[in-house]
Order: sequence, then C-alpha cells, then structure tokens
Amino acid sequence: MPEFTSIILGVLFLVLSLVTTFLNKQNHEKRSQQPPRLGETIPYVSNIWQYMTNNRLFMTRVRQILKDTPIAQCQLGPMNTYLVTGNSNVSLIFRSSFTSEPWILRILENAGGYTSTDMAHYYADGSGATSRPRRGPSELLPPEKRIWHTSHRMHDDTLIHARPINAFATSFQGFFAQELEAFPADEWVENIQIFSFLKSNMTAAATRAVVGPRIMDQNPDFIDAFWQYEKTPATLAFGLPPWINRRAVRIRDRFGAMCREWYELADRDFDWTGPDRQADWEPNFGSQVSKGLALWAKSFAFSSQSIGGAFALLLSGLHSNVIPICGWVMFELLQNPELYLAVKEEISEAEITNQASKVYFDHQKLTSLPLLQSVFTEVMRLHVSVLITRTSTENITIAGYTLPKGSIVQAPTEVAHLDESTWGKPGHPASEFWGYRHVKEIETTDETGNVVNKLEFFMSGKTGSFFPYGGGISICAGRFIANAEVLLAVSMLISRFDIEFVEWVKLDGSFSERAAIDDIRYANAVAKPPDRDMKVRWRRLW
Ligand code: HEM
Ligand SMILES: *[C@@H]1O[C@H](CO)[C@@H](O)[C@H](O)[C@H]1NC(C)=O
Ligand SMILES: *[C@@H]1O[C@H](CO)[C@@H](O)[C@H](O)[C@H]1NC(C)=O
Ligand SMILES: *[C@@H]1O[C@H](CO)[C@@H](O)[C@H](O)[C@H]1NC(C)=O
Repeated sequence: MPEFTSIILGVLFLVLSLVTTFLNKQNHEKRSQQPPRLGETIPYVSNIWQYMTNNRLFMTRVRQILKDTPIAQCQLGPMNTYLVTGNSNVSLIFRSSFTSEPWILRILENAGGYTSTDMAHYYADGSGATSRPRRGPSELLPPEKRIWHTSHRMHDDTLIHARPINAFATSFQGFFAQELEAFPADEWVENIQIFSFLKSNMTAAATRAVVGPRIMDQNPDFIDAFWQYEKTPATLAFGLPPWINRRAVRIRDRFGAMCREWYELADRDFDWTGPDRQADWEPNFGSQVSKGLALWAKSFAFSSQSIGGAFALLLSGLHSNVIPICGWVMFELLQNPELYLAVKEEISEAEITNQASKVYFDHQKLTSLPLLQSVFTEVMRLHVSVLITRTSTENITIAGYTLPKGSIVQAPTEVAHLDESTWGKPGHPASEFWGYRHVKEIETTDETGNVVNKLEFFMSGKTGSFFPYGGGISICAGRFIANAEVLLAVSMLISRFDIEFVEWVKLDGSFSERAAIDDIRYANAVAKPPDRDMKVRWRRLW
C-alpha cells in the first residue's frame, strides 16, 4: 500500500528533522507559563499520526481537552500549535494581529504547484491583503505590485459583488436544468445514488457556469480527474512533503495539466479587447470569475503552469465543499419526510418564471427562507470540520496566556460547532441534526390584519461559535456563490422530482447495513463527504 509507506517515511522524516526543535523547546518550556498540552505517547509522532489516520479520534481528544480550558497546546508533527475555543477567544484570531499567509503559501506551492519564479512574488510581498499595507520593507510597493492585495481585490470583484453572483445563479441553473432534463419526464428511474449523482452532475453544471464548457469537451475524463485531485490539496498543503507524497503529486499534475491546456487555448482564442470581455458568460472563458483570475495572473506575468494550478485550486474551492454539503442536505431531507414537505412548500415562495417560461429560483429569496436556512446551517454545523489556522504577527494575549509573535493558533470548527451550551436544546443534543434548530416561531400580522405564526431564522451562536467559512480578511471568498449553489441545487431537485428513499449503499453501490457518516479519510478537508451513499428512485415531474 503506497500511501501507508509514505506515512511511515513521513513519520521518520518528521522524527529525524525534529530532534533539534525538541531540544530547543524543552529548554524554552521550563522558562514560561504555558497552556495545558494535548498529551502524546511518542513525542512529535502520535498526534500527527492520529490526525492523519484517525481524525475522528484526534478531534474527540481535542474536544475533551478544550472542555476544561479555552486554550491548549498541541504538537502536530513539526508544529507547536495553540488550539483555541470560545466565542470571544476565537474572534481574536480573525483580527489583523493574525495572518493566514504562511498557510496560503503552502497551498499555492504544494497543492497548486506554482513555479518558484511565480511564488517569489508572494514571498517578496509582506504588505498583506488589506488596502493599507502592513508596516515593513514592502510597505512602499506600488499598489498593482501588491500580490496579496490585488488577489483579494480580484476575489471581491469576481466572487463577492452582486453581479457575478447573479450571473452564476443564472448560468448554474441553466446548466443544471439541462442535466436534470436528461431524465425522462413522468417515468420512475431506479438506482439513483444521490451523492454520486451530485458529484458528476453538479460538477458538470458548475464547471460550465464558471469556466465554460471547453475544459470538459477537451477532457472526457474531467469529472473523474477532478474527484481524484480533490482529495490532494489538504494532504499536499498540510501533510507530508511533496517528495514523499508522489502519488498525490502525480494526480495534482494530471489535473493541473488539464487546466493549463484549457487555459492556453482559451487565452489564445479570446479577444481580450472585444465585447465578450464584459459578458457575464461566454463559451470561451465562461464567467467573469475565470476572466478575472486569468487577467490578474497575467498582470504578474505568471507562467501557464502556475495559472493552470490557480484554476485547479479555483475548481477545488468551487466543488469540493458545496457538493458534499448538498449531499448531506438531501440525505437529511429524504430521511425526514415531514421536514422534506415543509421545505418543499417553503421553496415554492422563491420560484420565478423567466422568458422561456421555465420556472427558476430567485437565489436571494432562497437564502432568506427560514427553514431552508436552518437546515443548511445545521448541515454546515455538523459536517464542516476544519482547523482554521493563523500565525500571529505580534505578541498576543489569548485567554490569559501571552503567545509570542509567530505562534500558530488553530480554531477547530468542530469544537465550536458541537458545543452543547451554545447549540444544545432539550431533546436535541448538539451532536444531532435537527432541522428546526435555527428557527423560532413568531406572531405577526399578515396583509389582511390577521395574526399568523411564522418562522424566523435566528442564530444562537456568534462569529466565534459558527465559522464554516473561516473569518476575518481570509474568510472564504466564495461563500455567497456557495450559498447560492447549495440552495439552488437542492431546490431544483426537490421541486422537479418525486424522490423515494430505497436503501443505504456503500460508495461502490453495494448494500450497506448502516447510514452514512463523515468519511474519516478527509482530515481537515473542510466539508466532510459522506462515507455511504443513499440509493433512491425518482420521477421527474417537469
Ligand atoms: C460550503 C462551501 C464552502 C465552504 C464550507 C468553504 C470554506 C472555506 C474556508 C474554511 C476557507 C478558509 C477561510 C479562513 O481561513 O478563514 C475558504 C477559503 C476560500 N474559499 Fe471557500 N468554501 C466553500 C465554497 C467555496 C466556493 C464555492 C468558492 C469559489 C467559488 C470558494 C473559494 C474560496 C477562496 C478563493 C478562498 C481563499 C480566500 C482567501 O484566502 O482570501 N469557496 N473557504
Ligand atoms: C448525471 O448523473 C447520472 C446518474 O448518476 C449519470 O448517469 C450521468 O452520467 C451524470 N451526468 C454527468 C454529466 O456526469
Ligand atoms: C514580545 O515578547 C517577547 C518575549 O516573548 C519580548 O522579548 C518582546 O520584546 C515582545 N515584543 C513586543 C513588541 O512587545
Ligand atoms: C476566553 O478565555 C477566557 C480566559 O481568559 C475565558 O474566561 C473565557 O470564558 C473564554 N471565552 C469564551 C467565550 O469561552
């Protein structure tokens, strides 16, 4: 088993390269008051080993220690990290005395495979992502040379503003509707595996919406290559060094090459001065999201290898969390017929008719429906699991301990998201899905003056208790697109199909005696996909 060998090699590598750090630290620890430490039977090895091979058990231990203290130390391979929890303490790491740049560098370099020449721009720019440059040697860079800042601006322009989100909602619905219309109307179709269906059909529709159809036309195995690639960024960025992780590097390079070849042709054929430059969508580059990324990369004279890597990471950001989350929402609704019907009724409020007199959804309306919001929040709360990681840029006091500049601080979503005192309700412990957890019934008067009860969405937790998208300046730039896509895909499926649960199956389609749980192979991969699929039969209504 090659992966097992790499783990062994990796552990050896860590042990050998860490002896010096170990000795230094022993001296250091005697000197100062430190937060409690997550125990480790074999120093430098046990925690990282468990983190990689049994993430569920590792997180259980983290939850346990953070019950008694808002901050704990943990040796995670070569890194000494501080784990924090609690609303106000977590909020601290979203402020400007922390940066995620070291982590983004690892992602771009190892998971994106950017060339060292292009990486040099990042290493040379210490001015940060905010409009006002961080103090230091690169403070005087001209604004267009500030790579972190221009990248952040590009994300704002292409992912956060209303126009690109509306454009995405329209084109995604169009492409997803085409996929759905491949199923015969009024006929029961057997043996649909919901998660597997979403993995192929949503990937196809959202890829076309963002980068246009050509990349899939050029690569008949695009969807498979993507889902193989999708597992690698977290491993490559936060796991073993790439020279040990050869298999992951091969998969990364294969998908990166698809993106690079697509980009080279798209760029060759595109008239950057023509009217399509402003189009919300055109068949060559797709959306403004991909045109913005290409132009920004060109402005730093990036090689096409790095641009290929940038597109691979964009597609990974686009699909790898939204699609598992959609899968979980569908699983929860289908296991709970009453909730399913209530949501189905609620979403009818967001239906609109476009020129071709097809019914589509208003994505803004969808994001304001209380029950749908509550179900979505509940799924994100339970299935997003990531250690939000920052490095302090100055000495900082958290929960009574002063951590020196350069400390690595991690906020595990899982601890905050499962906190009983924040989320638990009588009969509905925080560990269980409850579709109505984030709504309350309020009395209001309708247009005719009658008093009616209606649901209102509310969050009992605050920024530091629920942060599936991270926070601060590095917060997920795709969050509005993500919200739109999840709610649109779910609404389109439940409004257009009659769906009946058949049984749980393993991912290969064989019978499973149990329901899905989070797939433990995805350590720190943000949204955890299910380890089982749900087999249904369905009939398209229109
Ligand atoms: C449910 C879906 C999603 C989840 C849970 C999610 C989660 C995250 C998280 C946790 C981060 C790191 C934030 C931090 O360190 O504070 C992040 C960053 C990012 N995500 Fe997402 N994401 C999702 C969907 C998307 C989509 C659809 C896109 C693209 C269209 C996207 C693009 C990005 C980008 C570009 C960043 C880096 C932002 C920066 O460093 O400035 N994400 N995401
Ligand atoms: C959509 O899903 C169906 C059923 O899982 C599958 O047969 C079909 O190939 C998928 N479409 C695409 C574009 O992958
Ligand atoms: C930060 O803390 C270190 C000791 O841990 C101290 O030597 C240094 O002066 C402090 N820096 C600032 C700016 O307070
Ligand atoms: C943050 O840490 C302090 C310890 O200084 C603790 O008293 C407080 O409860 C923590 N905040 C939260 C919201 O847990």
